[in-house]
Amino acid sequence: MVKGIKITTIGGGSSYTPELVEGFIKHYDELPVRELWLVDIEAGKEKLEIVGNLAKRMIEKAGLPIEVHLTLDRRAALENADFVTTQFRVGLLEARAKDERIPMKYGVLGQETNGPGGLFKGLRTIPVILDICKDMEELCPNAWLINFTNPAGMVTEAVLRYSNIKKVVGLCNVPIGMEMGIAKLLDVDHSRIKIDFAGLNHMVYGLDVYVDGESVKDKVIELLTDPNNTSFVKNVKGLGWEPSFIRSLNLLTCPYHNYYYKTKDMIEKDIKKAKEEGTRAEVVLKLEKELFELYKDPNLAIKPPQLEERGGAYYSEAAVRLITSIYTDKGDIQPVNTQNNGAIASIPNDSAVEVSCVITKEGPKPIVIGDLPIAVRGLVQQIKSFERIAAEAAVTGDYDTAVLALTINPLTPSDTIAREIVDEMLEAHKEHLPQFFPKKEAVK
Ligand code: G6P
Repeated sequence: MVKGIKITTIGGGSSYTPELVEGFIKHYDELPVRELWLVDIEAGKEKLEIVGNLAKRMIEKAGLPIEVHLTLDRRAALENADFVTTQFRVGLLEARAKDERIPMKYGVLGQETNGPGGLFKGLRTIPVILDICKDMEELCPNAWLINFTNPAGMVTEAVLRYSNIKKVVGLCNVPIGMEMGIAKLLDVDHSRIKIDFAGLNHMVYGLDVYVDGESVKDKVIELLTDPNNTSFVKNVKGLGWEPSFIRSLNLLTCPYHNYYYKTKDMIEKDIKKAKEEGTRAEVVLKLEKELFELYKDPNLAIKPPQLEERGGAYYSEAAVRLITSIYTDKGDIQPVNTQNNGAIASIPNDSAVEVSCVITKEGPKPIVIGDLPIAVRGLVQQIKSFERIAAEAAVTGDYDTAVLALTINPLTPSDTIAREIVDEMLEAHKEHLPQFFPKKEAVK
Protein backbone atom coordinates (compact mmCIF):
# COMPACT_ATOMS: atom_id res chain seq x y z
CA MET A 1 0.00 0.00 0.00
CA VAL A 2 1.29 3.50 -0.81
CA LYS A 3 2.07 5.44 2.31
CA GLY A 4 -0.04 8.58 2.51
CA ILE A 5 1.59 11.97 2.82
CA LYS A 6 2.10 13.32 6.31
CA ILE A 7 2.14 17.08 6.67
CA THR A 8 3.11 18.77 9.91
CA THR A 9 2.24 22.41 10.40
CA ILE A 10 4.05 24.23 13.19
CA GLY A 11 2.03 27.20 14.38
CA GLY A 12 -1.05 25.19 13.42
CA GLY A 13 -3.29 27.37 15.60
CA SER A 14 -2.68 30.32 13.26
CA SER A 15 -5.66 32.04 11.70
CA TYR A 16 -4.04 31.17 8.32
CA THR A 17 -4.58 27.42 8.79
CA PRO A 18 -8.01 27.33 7.03
CA GLU A 19 -6.20 28.75 3.94
CA LEU A 20 -3.85 25.81 3.96
CA VAL A 21 -6.61 23.28 4.58
CA GLU A 22 -8.65 24.72 1.73
CA GLY A 23 -5.60 24.23 -0.52
CA PHE A 24 -5.13 20.60 0.54
CA ILE A 25 -8.81 19.92 -0.13
CA LYS A 26 -8.75 21.53 -3.58
CA HIS A 27 -5.61 19.72 -4.68
CA TYR A 28 -6.32 16.37 -3.05
CA ASP A 29 -6.28 14.49 -6.38
CA GLU A 30 -2.69 15.48 -7.04
CA LEU A 31 -1.58 15.66 -3.42
CA PRO A 32 -3.22 12.91 -1.37
CA VAL A 33 -2.60 14.10 2.18
CA ARG A 34 -3.40 11.33 4.68
CA GLU A 35 -2.34 13.03 7.89
CA LEU A 36 -2.29 16.66 8.80
CA TRP A 37 -0.67 17.39 12.16
CA LEU A 38 -1.33 20.84 13.54
CA VAL A 39 1.10 21.71 16.33
CA ASP A 40 1.15 24.68 18.62
CA ILE A 41 2.45 25.74 22.01
CA GLU A 42 0.59 25.94 25.32
CA ALA A 43 -0.21 29.64 24.79
CA GLY A 44 -1.83 28.79 21.46
CA LYS A 45 -3.83 25.83 22.75
CA GLU A 46 -7.23 27.47 22.55
CA LYS A 47 -6.67 28.77 19.02
CA LEU A 48 -5.38 25.35 17.98
CA GLU A 49 -8.58 23.71 19.22
CA ILE A 50 -10.81 26.21 17.44
CA VAL A 51 -8.96 26.24 14.14
CA GLY A 52 -8.31 22.50 14.29
CA ASN A 53 -11.98 21.74 14.71
CA LEU A 54 -12.80 23.99 11.77
CA ALA A 55 -10.17 22.11 9.72
CA LYS A 56 -11.85 18.84 10.67
CA ARG A 57 -15.26 20.16 9.61
CA MET A 58 -13.87 21.44 6.30
CA ILE A 59 -12.35 18.04 5.53
CA GLU A 60 -15.46 16.17 6.59
CA LYS A 61 -17.59 18.39 4.36
CA ALA A 62 -15.25 17.68 1.44
CA GLY A 63 -15.60 13.94 2.19
CA LEU A 64 -11.87 13.30 2.16
CA PRO A 65 -9.96 10.72 4.22
CA ILE A 66 -7.48 13.22 5.70
CA GLU A 67 -6.85 12.68 9.40
CA VAL A 68 -6.35 15.87 11.38
CA HIS A 69 -4.28 15.62 14.55
CA LEU A 70 -4.05 18.48 17.03
CA THR A 71 -1.14 18.43 19.43
CA LEU A 72 1.23 20.41 21.60
CA ASP A 73 3.85 17.69 21.20
CA ARG A 74 6.08 18.93 18.39
CA ARG A 75 8.28 15.85 18.37
CA ALA A 76 5.35 13.47 17.98
CA ALA A 77 4.04 15.62 15.16
CA LEU A 78 7.38 15.65 13.35
CA GLU A 79 7.94 11.91 13.42
CA ASN A 80 8.10 10.60 9.83
CA ALA A 81 6.62 13.77 8.37
CA ASP A 82 7.04 14.25 4.60
CA PHE A 83 6.57 18.02 4.64
CA VAL A 84 6.90 20.38 7.58
CA THR A 85 5.34 23.79 7.12
CA THR A 86 6.15 26.55 9.59
CA GLN A 87 3.87 29.52 10.24
CA PHE A 88 4.55 30.35 13.86
CA ARG A 89 5.02 33.73 15.49
CA VAL A 90 7.32 33.85 18.52
CA GLY A 91 5.75 36.21 21.07
CA LEU A 92 2.46 36.28 19.14
CA LEU A 93 0.94 39.44 17.70
CA GLU A 94 1.75 41.31 20.92
CA ALA A 95 5.45 41.08 20.03
CA ARG A 96 4.71 42.28 16.51
CA ALA A 97 2.96 45.33 17.96
CA LYS A 98 6.16 46.20 19.86
CA ASP A 99 8.20 45.75 16.66
CA GLU A 100 5.93 48.30 15.06
CA ARG A 101 5.47 50.80 17.92
CA ILE A 102 9.00 51.14 19.28
CA PRO A 103 10.82 52.22 16.07
CA MET A 104 8.09 54.79 15.40
CA LYS A 105 9.14 56.64 18.57
CA TYR A 106 12.49 57.26 16.87
CA GLY A 107 10.88 58.31 13.59
CA VAL A 108 11.94 54.99 12.04
CA LEU A 109 9.77 52.50 10.14
CA GLY A 110 7.86 50.10 12.40
CA GLN A 111 7.07 47.08 10.27
CA GLU A 112 7.14 43.34 10.89
CA THR A 113 9.69 42.32 8.24
CA ASN A 114 11.63 45.48 7.39
CA GLY A 115 14.01 47.61 9.44
CA PRO A 116 14.12 47.12 13.25
CA GLY A 117 10.92 45.01 13.29
CA GLY A 118 12.40 42.62 10.75
CA LEU A 119 15.61 42.39 12.75
CA PHE A 120 13.85 41.61 16.03
CA LYS A 121 11.40 39.18 14.47
CA GLY A 122 14.45 37.40 13.08
CA LEU A 123 16.25 37.43 16.44
CA ARG A 124 13.21 35.82 18.10
CA THR A 125 12.46 33.34 15.32
CA ILE A 126 15.84 31.98 14.18
CA PRO A 127 16.76 30.08 17.37
CA VAL A 128 13.34 28.41 17.29
CA ILE A 129 13.56 27.38 13.64
CA LEU A 130 17.07 26.01 14.23
CA ASP A 131 15.69 23.95 17.08
CA ILE A 132 12.97 22.61 14.78
CA CYS A 133 15.71 21.73 12.26
CA LYS A 134 17.52 19.68 14.92
CA ASP A 135 14.31 17.77 15.67
CA MET A 136 13.75 17.23 11.96
CA GLU A 137 17.23 15.78 11.52
CA GLU A 138 16.38 13.19 14.10
CA LEU A 139 12.70 12.53 13.47
CA CYS A 140 12.06 13.15 9.76
CA PRO A 141 15.43 13.55 8.04
CA ASN A 142 13.93 13.22 4.55
CA ALA A 143 11.21 15.80 5.01
CA TRP A 144 11.04 19.15 3.25
CA LEU A 145 10.84 22.23 5.41
CA ILE A 146 8.55 24.81 3.84
CA ASN A 147 8.97 27.98 5.85
CA PHE A 148 6.36 30.72 5.77
CA THR A 149 7.46 32.32 9.04
CA ASN A 150 8.76 35.85 8.64
CA PRO A 151 11.18 37.32 7.97
CA ALA A 152 11.17 34.47 5.45
CA GLY A 153 14.36 35.48 3.62
CA MET A 154 16.41 35.88 6.78
CA VAL A 155 15.00 32.66 8.23
CA THR A 156 15.88 30.71 5.05
CA GLU A 157 19.37 32.24 5.15
CA ALA A 158 19.78 31.09 8.76
CA VAL A 159 18.58 27.55 8.05
CA LEU A 160 20.97 27.22 5.09
CA ARG A 161 23.88 28.66 7.07
CA TYR A 162 23.40 27.27 10.56
CA SER A 163 21.51 23.97 10.31
CA ASN A 164 22.06 20.60 8.66
CA ILE A 165 18.72 20.77 6.88
CA LYS A 166 19.28 21.21 3.17
CA LYS A 167 15.74 20.51 2.02
CA VAL A 168 14.38 23.92 2.93
CA VAL A 169 12.29 26.31 0.87
CA GLY A 170 11.21 29.77 2.00
CA LEU A 171 7.79 30.76 0.82
CA CYS A 172 6.03 34.08 0.53
CA ASN A 173 2.78 35.16 -1.01
CA VAL A 174 4.16 38.42 -2.45
CA PRO A 175 5.24 36.99 -5.83
CA ILE A 176 1.94 35.16 -6.32
CA GLY A 177 0.15 38.32 -5.14
CA MET A 178 1.98 40.30 -7.83
CA GLU A 179 0.98 37.75 -10.46
CA MET A 180 -2.63 37.86 -9.33
CA GLY A 181 -2.58 41.66 -9.19
CA ILE A 182 -1.21 41.97 -12.70
CA ALA A 183 -3.65 39.37 -14.01
CA LYS A 184 -6.40 41.58 -12.61
CA LEU A 185 -4.92 44.74 -14.13
CA LEU A 186 -4.74 43.09 -17.52
CA ASP A 187 -8.05 41.31 -17.03
CA VAL A 188 -6.67 37.87 -17.88
CA ASP A 189 -6.70 34.60 -15.97
CA HIS A 190 -3.83 34.21 -13.50
CA SER A 191 -2.67 30.98 -15.15
CA ARG A 192 -1.68 32.95 -18.29
CA ILE A 193 0.68 35.31 -16.42
CA LYS A 194 4.34 34.58 -15.84
CA ILE A 195 6.84 36.89 -14.17
CA ASP A 196 10.61 36.43 -14.09
CA PHE A 197 11.32 37.11 -10.40
CA ALA A 198 14.70 37.97 -8.92
CA GLY A 199 15.86 39.50 -5.67
CA LEU A 200 15.22 38.72 -2.03
CA ASN A 201 12.15 38.14 0.06
CA HIS A 202 10.13 41.36 0.32
CA MET A 203 12.80 42.87 -1.96
CA VAL A 204 11.87 41.06 -5.15
CA TYR A 205 11.63 42.56 -8.63
CA GLY A 206 9.89 41.36 -11.74
CA LEU A 207 12.45 41.47 -14.54
CA ASP A 208 9.87 40.70 -17.21
CA VAL A 209 6.20 39.74 -17.38
CA TYR A 210 4.41 37.64 -19.98
CA VAL A 211 0.90 36.75 -21.02
CA ASP A 212 0.88 33.38 -22.80
CA GLY A 213 4.65 33.66 -23.21
CA GLU A 214 4.58 37.12 -24.88
CA SER A 215 6.24 39.96 -22.96
CA VAL A 216 3.79 42.65 -21.83
CA LYS A 217 6.31 44.48 -19.67
CA ASP A 218 5.95 47.89 -21.36
CA LYS A 219 2.21 47.82 -20.92
CA VAL A 220 2.45 46.74 -17.28
CA ILE A 221 5.08 49.41 -16.47
CA GLU A 222 2.73 52.00 -17.92
CA LEU A 223 -0.13 50.66 -15.76
CA LEU A 224 2.13 50.82 -12.68
CA THR A 225 2.55 54.56 -13.13
CA ASP A 226 -1.07 54.81 -11.91
CA PRO A 227 -0.99 55.18 -8.09
CA ASN A 228 -4.01 52.89 -7.72
CA ASN A 229 -2.16 49.98 -9.24
CA THR A 230 0.86 49.53 -7.02
CA SER A 231 -0.40 47.52 -4.06
CA PHE A 232 -0.63 43.77 -4.42
CA VAL A 233 -0.92 42.70 -0.79
CA LYS A 234 -3.59 43.77 1.67
CA ASN A 235 -1.33 45.11 4.38
CA VAL A 236 1.02 47.35 2.38
CA LYS A 237 -0.77 50.18 0.68
CA GLY A 238 1.59 51.85 -1.76
CA LEU A 239 1.44 55.57 -2.37
CA GLY A 240 2.03 55.46 -6.11
CA TRP A 241 5.29 55.89 -7.98
CA GLU A 242 6.62 58.90 -9.82
CA PRO A 243 5.97 57.84 -13.42
CA SER A 244 9.46 58.92 -14.46
CA PHE A 245 10.97 56.70 -11.72
CA ILE A 246 9.06 53.56 -12.56
CA ARG A 247 9.64 54.02 -16.31
CA SER A 248 13.39 54.45 -15.95
CA LEU A 249 13.66 51.66 -13.36
CA ASN A 250 11.87 49.51 -15.92
CA LEU A 251 11.20 46.70 -13.45
CA LEU A 252 8.11 45.51 -11.61
CA THR A 253 8.38 46.48 -7.96
CA CYS A 254 6.93 44.63 -4.99
CA PRO A 255 4.80 46.46 -2.40
CA TYR A 256 7.63 46.46 0.16
CA HIS A 257 9.73 48.65 -2.15
CA ASN A 258 7.55 51.50 -0.98
CA TYR A 259 9.49 51.46 2.29
CA TYR A 260 12.79 51.97 0.46
CA TYR A 261 11.86 54.36 -2.32
CA LYS A 262 9.28 56.38 -0.36
CA THR A 263 10.72 56.00 3.11
CA LYS A 264 9.71 59.34 4.59
CA ASP A 265 6.16 59.28 3.20
CA MET A 266 5.54 55.71 4.31
CA ILE A 267 6.82 56.35 7.86
CA GLU A 268 4.64 59.45 8.18
CA LYS A 269 1.62 57.57 6.84
CA ASP A 270 2.17 54.63 9.21
CA ILE A 271 2.68 56.86 12.26
CA LYS A 272 -0.53 58.72 11.46
CA LYS A 273 -2.39 55.46 10.96
CA ALA A 274 -1.02 54.03 14.20
CA LYS A 275 -2.39 57.07 16.05
CA GLU A 276 -5.80 56.86 14.41
CA GLU A 277 -6.52 53.15 14.25
CA GLY A 278 -3.49 51.36 15.73
CA THR A 279 -0.53 49.63 14.11
CA ARG A 280 -1.10 46.75 11.69
CA ALA A 281 -0.58 44.22 14.53
CA GLU A 282 -3.18 46.00 16.63
CA VAL A 283 -5.63 46.02 13.74
CA VAL A 284 -4.91 42.34 13.04
CA LEU A 285 -5.42 41.48 16.72
CA LYS A 286 -8.98 42.78 16.45
CA LEU A 287 -9.51 41.08 13.10
CA GLU A 288 -8.25 37.80 14.57
CA LYS A 289 -10.68 38.00 17.47
CA GLU A 290 -13.51 38.31 14.97
CA LEU A 291 -12.10 35.51 12.83
CA PHE A 292 -11.80 33.12 15.76
CA GLU A 293 -15.39 33.91 16.79
CA LEU A 294 -16.43 32.88 13.28
CA TYR A 295 -14.21 29.80 13.34
CA LYS A 296 -15.98 28.65 16.51
CA ASP A 297 -19.33 28.33 14.74
CA PRO A 298 -20.01 24.59 14.50
CA ASN A 299 -21.96 25.19 11.30
CA LEU A 300 -19.00 26.80 9.56
CA ALA A 301 -17.22 24.30 7.31
CA ILE A 302 -15.46 26.54 4.79
CA LYS A 303 -12.74 29.14 4.94
CA PRO A 304 -14.60 32.35 5.83
CA PRO A 305 -14.12 35.12 3.24
CA GLN A 306 -13.14 37.53 6.06
CA LEU A 307 -9.77 35.74 6.19
CA GLU A 308 -8.91 37.47 2.95
CA GLU A 309 -8.69 40.74 4.91
CA ARG A 310 -5.39 39.39 6.22
CA GLY A 311 -2.26 40.04 4.19
CA GLY A 312 -1.66 36.34 3.67
CA ALA A 313 -4.09 35.84 0.80
CA TYR A 314 -3.04 33.15 -1.73
CA TYR A 315 -0.79 31.60 0.91
CA SER A 316 -2.51 28.27 0.37
CA GLU A 317 -2.15 28.54 -3.41
CA ALA A 318 1.55 29.20 -3.04
CA ALA A 319 2.14 26.50 -0.41
CA VAL A 320 0.06 23.79 -1.99
CA ARG A 321 1.35 24.34 -5.52
CA LEU A 322 4.90 24.14 -4.18
CA ILE A 323 4.35 20.96 -2.17
CA THR A 324 2.45 19.39 -5.07
CA SER A 325 5.23 20.13 -7.55
CA ILE A 326 7.88 18.64 -5.27
CA TYR A 327 5.71 15.59 -4.63
CA THR A 328 4.79 15.02 -8.29
CA ASP A 329 8.18 16.11 -9.72
CA LYS A 330 6.26 18.53 -11.89
CA GLY A 331 9.07 20.71 -13.22
CA ASP A 332 6.96 23.87 -13.38
CA ILE A 333 8.26 27.33 -12.55
CA GLN A 334 7.52 29.00 -9.21
CA PRO A 335 9.11 31.86 -7.28
CA VAL A 336 10.56 30.71 -3.94
CA ASN A 337 13.39 31.41 -1.50
CA THR A 338 16.26 29.02 -2.01
CA GLN A 339 20.03 28.84 -2.18
CA ASN A 340 21.32 31.15 -4.91
CA ASN A 341 23.76 28.70 -6.51
CA GLY A 342 24.80 31.22 -9.12
CA ALA A 343 21.32 32.37 -10.16
CA ILE A 344 22.09 36.01 -9.28
CA ALA A 345 25.71 36.86 -9.99
CA SER A 346 26.23 39.54 -7.35
CA ILE A 347 24.85 37.51 -4.43
CA PRO A 348 26.99 34.82 -2.76
CA ASN A 349 26.23 31.33 -4.04
CA ASP A 350 25.43 30.00 -0.58
CA SER A 351 22.93 32.76 0.32
CA ALA A 352 19.16 32.62 0.10
CA VAL A 353 17.50 34.50 -2.75
CA GLU A 354 13.90 34.79 -4.00
CA VAL A 355 13.90 33.76 -7.65
CA SER A 356 11.86 31.89 -10.21
CA CYS A 357 12.79 28.22 -9.94
CA VAL A 358 12.01 24.97 -11.69
CA ILE A 359 10.38 22.79 -9.03
CA THR A 360 11.19 19.08 -9.12
CA LYS A 361 11.31 16.28 -6.57
CA GLU A 362 14.86 17.43 -5.80
CA GLY A 363 13.41 20.82 -4.86
CA PRO A 364 13.76 24.22 -6.47
CA LYS A 365 16.39 24.75 -9.17
CA PRO A 366 16.90 28.50 -9.55
CA ILE A 367 16.83 29.90 -13.05
CA VAL A 368 20.07 31.73 -13.80
CA ILE A 369 19.39 35.39 -14.51
CA GLY A 370 22.94 36.73 -14.60
CA ASP A 371 23.13 40.01 -12.76
CA LEU A 372 20.53 42.38 -11.46
CA PRO A 373 20.24 45.73 -13.20
CA ILE A 374 22.72 48.22 -11.76
CA ALA A 375 19.96 50.48 -10.39
CA VAL A 376 18.84 47.84 -7.88
CA ARG A 377 21.96 45.73 -7.40
CA GLY A 378 23.37 47.69 -4.48
CA LEU A 379 20.15 47.80 -2.49
CA VAL A 380 19.62 44.05 -2.87
CA GLN A 381 23.19 43.36 -1.76
CA GLN A 382 22.78 45.70 1.20
CA ILE A 383 19.65 43.92 2.37
CA LYS A 384 21.40 40.59 1.95
CA SER A 385 24.24 41.85 4.17
CA PHE A 386 21.66 42.99 6.72
CA GLU A 387 19.98 39.55 6.68
CA ARG A 388 23.28 37.72 7.09
CA ILE A 389 24.52 39.85 9.97
CA ALA A 390 21.11 39.72 11.63
CA ALA A 391 21.10 35.91 11.36
CA GLU A 392 24.56 35.86 12.91
CA ALA A 393 23.33 38.02 15.78
CA ALA A 394 20.36 35.70 16.28
CA VAL A 395 22.63 32.68 16.57
CA THR A 396 25.38 34.22 18.71
CA GLY A 397 23.27 36.55 20.84
CA ASP A 398 25.98 39.15 20.34
CA TYR A 399 24.85 42.68 21.11
CA ASP A 400 27.37 44.49 18.88
CA THR A 401 26.42 42.28 15.93
CA ALA A 402 22.74 43.16 16.42
CA VAL A 403 23.60 46.89 16.47
CA LEU A 404 25.76 46.45 13.37
CA ALA A 405 22.92 44.72 11.52
CA LEU A 406 20.52 47.55 12.27
CA THR A 407 23.05 50.30 11.55
CA ILE A 408 23.73 49.03 8.02
CA ASN A 409 20.02 48.70 7.27
CA PRO A 410 19.10 51.41 4.76
CA LEU A 411 16.03 52.36 6.81
CA THR A 412 18.13 53.36 9.84
CA PRO A 413 19.13 57.04 9.98
CA SER A 414 22.19 56.76 12.28
CA ASP A 415 24.39 54.44 14.31
CA THR A 416 23.24 56.07 17.54
CA ILE A 417 19.56 55.65 16.71
CA ALA A 418 20.30 52.02 15.81
CA ARG A 419 21.89 51.46 19.20
CA GLU A 420 19.05 53.18 21.04
CA ILE A 421 16.40 51.15 19.22
CA VAL A 422 18.28 47.89 19.82
CA ASP A 423 18.56 48.73 23.54
CA GLU A 424 14.87 49.45 23.90
CA MET A 425 13.75 46.50 21.82
CA LEU A 426 16.06 44.02 23.54
CA GLU A 427 14.51 45.03 26.84
CA ALA A 428 10.95 44.89 25.45
CA HIS A 429 11.44 41.42 23.94
CA LYS A 430 13.66 40.06 26.70
CA GLU A 431 11.46 37.09 27.39
CA HIS A 432 11.81 35.81 23.79
CA LEU A 433 15.51 36.53 23.37
CA PRO A 434 17.26 34.16 25.78
CA GLN A 435 20.43 34.17 23.66
CA PHE A 436 20.98 37.82 24.61
CA PHE A 437 20.22 37.29 28.29
CA PRO A 438 22.01 34.13 29.37
CA LYS A 439 21.07 32.99 32.83
CA LYS A 440 23.80 33.93 35.31
CA GLU A 441 25.54 30.97 36.96
CA ALA A 442 24.58 30.82 40.62
CA VAL A 443 27.46 32.17 42.73
CA LYS A 444 28.64 29.59 45.22
C1 G6P B 1 1.86 39.70 3.35
C2 G6P B 1 3.32 39.38 3.48
C3 G6P B 1 3.56 38.47 4.62
C4 G6P B 1 2.95 39.03 5.88
C5 G6P B 1 1.48 39.28 5.67
C6 G6P B 1 0.96 40.00 6.89
O1 G6P B 1 1.21 38.59 2.92
O2 G6P B 1 3.82 38.78 2.34
O3 G6P B 1 4.94 38.33 4.78
O4 G6P B 1 3.12 38.14 6.94
O5 G6P B 1 1.28 40.10 4.56
O6 G6P B 1 -0.39 40.12 6.85
P1 G6P B 1 -1.16 40.79 8.06
O7 G6P B 1 -2.57 40.69 7.67
O8 G6P B 1 -0.78 39.98 9.27
O9 G6P B 1 -0.64 42.18 8.17
